[in-house]
Amino acid sequence: MGDQMTSQNFISQKRKERKEIQKSPFRPPLTKGERSTHFQNTYHRSHGFASPFKKGGVRGICSEGALTVLLLLCGPAAVAFAASGDNAFTPTNIFVPFSTPAHAIYQNASLVLTICAAIFLVVGGLLAYSIFRFRRRPEHENLEPPQVYGSNQIELAWTVIPILIVIVITLATTRTIYDVQGALPPPGTVSVTVVGHQWWWEIRYPDLGIVTANELHVPVTESGNRRPTFLKLESADVAHSFWVPQLAGKTDVIPNRRNQMWIEPTQPGTYVGNCAEYCGLQHARMLLRVVAHAPNDFQNWVAAQKQPPVDDPQLRAGRDAFFSTSCINCHVIKGTRANGQFGPDLTHLMSRETIGAGVVPNTAENLRAWVRDPQHIKPGALMPNMQLSDGELDQMVAYLSSLR
Ligand code: CUA
Repeated sequence: MGDQMTSQNFISQKRKERKEIQKSPFRPPLTKGERSTHFQNTYHRSHGFASPFKKGGVRGICSEGALTVLLLLCGPAAVAFAASGDNAFTPTNIFVPFSTPAHAIYQNASLVLTICAAIFLVVGGLLAYSIFRFRRRPEHENLEPPQVYGSNQIELAWTVIPILIVIVITLATTRTIYDVQGALPPPGTVSVTVVGHQWWWEIRYPDLGIVTANELHVPVTESGNRRPTFLKLESADVAHSFWVPQLAGKTDVIPNRRNQMWIEPTQPGTYVGNCAEYCGLQHARMLLRVVAHAPNDFQNWVAAQKQPPVDDPQLRAGRDAFFSTSCINCHVIKGTRANGQFGPDLTHLMSRETIGAGVVPNTAENLRAWVRDPQHIKPGALMPNMQLSDGELDQMVAYLSSLR
């Protein structure tokens, strides 16, 4: 304790002395021995271990620094590896954009990453060089390095250069934001309203009269034929966030507010995404699929979605079972009296790939398990267990399976 007090007194006394020296236009030189002892003592007391400027210390520092440099250099390498990898294995890879806004964001992110990597290499390189070049050597045992107190040139350089870099990044980012958020819908745009629910996505095409869930079907843009999809984002309950990494940036989905975004896939395929804002128990299983079709396929999908459900007399029992329960208070089946707005529209249930917003594939077996007890597959889901008998369950699943 006494030792520590002494050393703290010693340091504050020396700091005062240094201030006095700095104020004075004439800096009286300290003797070499004085300064060297002061420095090493201070280092030892404040860091709790021997000064690396003593013999043997440098090697430790160098190997630690080398490891850090290696680890940090691995980052860009991993990114490059991911970018060159097979798209099928990285369906949410932000470094493999397939849509106009995602491309703009990717380019901006690449610019920022490149600038940061260059800064890292310069700073890290200078640091590594200095550590090695100016390490303590036996012939310097009793020498003190030159003490530099302020340099206008150096201070200007490390103020002005970062400001210029920040200005470049700001301008590039502003242009990207303007390009993405300020874009106006061209002719041929598909308009969609996406409503976030706990924990699924309602997808409405007001101009086409289609309502579906969890799967957003859009046309692709081909050269000379732009078909972007502009989305209005709304929430029925809490805050969600719409994110399909390969198609666009995240946009929050906020209650009592209408946010906008757009996507413009350039290649047919299925792009997966998920809710990106914690929204309750099943937030992690609020998945999203965007299916991008060639223009003709999109027309076919639209035509199929507009078909009314077929009323098969053989499925009458299942239909009656469905309409005699409170299922109809939450679900819509077009052309029937099932007109509940709380759950997903079931008019074309079987055209969708998954059940429960991407939780399980939409097979007859999974559908049966889901209707029997949704809580078993997705605990906390707001659809209750309807306590159906096995017979009712079979009939109802047969009827639901006809909704294509
Ligand atoms: Cu919806 Cu998280």
